[in-house]
Amino acid sequence: MIIVGVGGGIAAYKACALVRHFTERGHEVRVIPTESALKFVGAATFEALSGNPVQTGVFESIPEVPHVRLGQSADLVVIAPATADLMARAAQGRADDLLTGTLLTARCPVVFAPAMHTEMWEHPATRANVATLRERGAVVIEPASGRLTGKDTGAGRLPEPDEIGALADVLLEHPGALNRDLEGRRVVVSAGGTKEALDPVRYLTNRSSGKQGYALARLAAQRGAHVTLVAGNTVGLADPSAVDVVRIASALDLQAAMAEHAADADLVIMAAAVADYRPADVATTKLKKGADGKSEALESITMIENPDVLAGLVAARRDGTLRSDAVIVGFAAETGDAAGSVLDYGRAKLRRKGCDLLVLNAVGDGRAFEVDENSGWLLGADGGETALPLGSKTAMAARILDAAVARVHAAR
Ligand code: CTP
Repeated sequence: MIIVGVGGGIAAYKACALVRHFTERGHEVRVIPTESALKFVGAATFEALSGNPVQTGVFESIPEVPHVRLGQSADLVVIAPATADLMARAAQGRADDLLTGTLLTARCPVVFAPAMHTEMWEHPATRANVATLRERGAVVIEPASGRLTGKDTGAGRLPEPDEIGALADVLLEHPGALNRDLEGRRVVVSAGGTKEALDPVRYLTNRSSGKQGYALARLAAQRGAHVTLVAGNTVGLADPSAVDVVRIASALDLQAAMAEHAADADLVIMAAAVADYRPADVATTKLKKGADGKSEALESITMIENPDVLAGLVAARRDGTLRSDAVIVGFAAETGDAAGSVLDYGRAKLRRKGCDLLVLNAVGDGRAFEVDENSGWLLGADGGETALPLGSKTAMAARILDAAVARVHAAR
């Protein structure tokens, strides 16, 4: 059973979509709003969406002892929005309503998704409460930046319900997924396909969705890192919360962005699907068909090789342009054939690229590209090989980060 706790903030309306996220995945959901949350969304809405009764106090349904029973039987508690006041009460261990009472009895993972104005989020009192809650094992999600109530913008915005849902789901699959083990570290992740222009309206790209790289950037930020996501062509993915996003188009743009942002990184992850070749000439005006209805320029396109960005980063680490203790992770999508298996090709690629870890996906038959689930292997330059079982791209990201973080900590 999942408990969705709702604090009294304007973002309480987003809790409705979060309840839906969990019920659609087959979970039993109980909503526990605070009294002030009901000033924003009515109990009837939460009852209809969850299919369960809603109460805020400890003096209702007394024979069922809900302030103890609900917490005891929960598999996960997610509080969204978590207001400054609600986190302060939780940090103090108060039990003056059903939600805070439930927090004291719950022994399952607890996630707070804060939402408040930037000043409140940055206030030392809130910082101390967040630190206390994290020390006690709760996950406090980094809020998004953007439009707050009224005209202000800044850090403190509640992440979108799907993002909170994805972060909560991964805890059920992989309980250590949101450990704060990248605090103070710098991480650069590339994601998505590159676009190689032919003329002002046409370009060549590939089937990479960017989902795996986005999941890695999202989790690394929630694990405490300062994350830069260098994003190519993606399937309209929303920016992850608390991540700096740099947009690029071509492989050459990607190379330049990585050189700039990876220079002082502890961890560099190349999840982007880089085009190996680009058109040799990029027309400045649209390539048109002639009077005969044909275009020679489009019938045969001369291609030239793109740089290998990953191999270049490994070389930069050797020559001192990148930190010498930076951990570098590459990706490979392979198909097996008569000459070798997926694993054979992966091992050879790891040697050729010289990175520390290679995430190897078997592709073909609709696997890996444009889907939400993935499986594969994690190959280490130290000879370690771990199977990555079929799971969500977020769970996969958690496993990749576990291995990468262990190397980051060993390096420095
Ligand atoms: N990569 C890169 N620059 C390129 C091509 C690939 O940085 N020009 C990176 C990808 O981001 C990925 C890894 O290298 O992390 C492997 O990508 P892949 O396309 O499988 O490698 P290729 O070297 O292109 O190998 P293949 O000959 O199998 O296409």
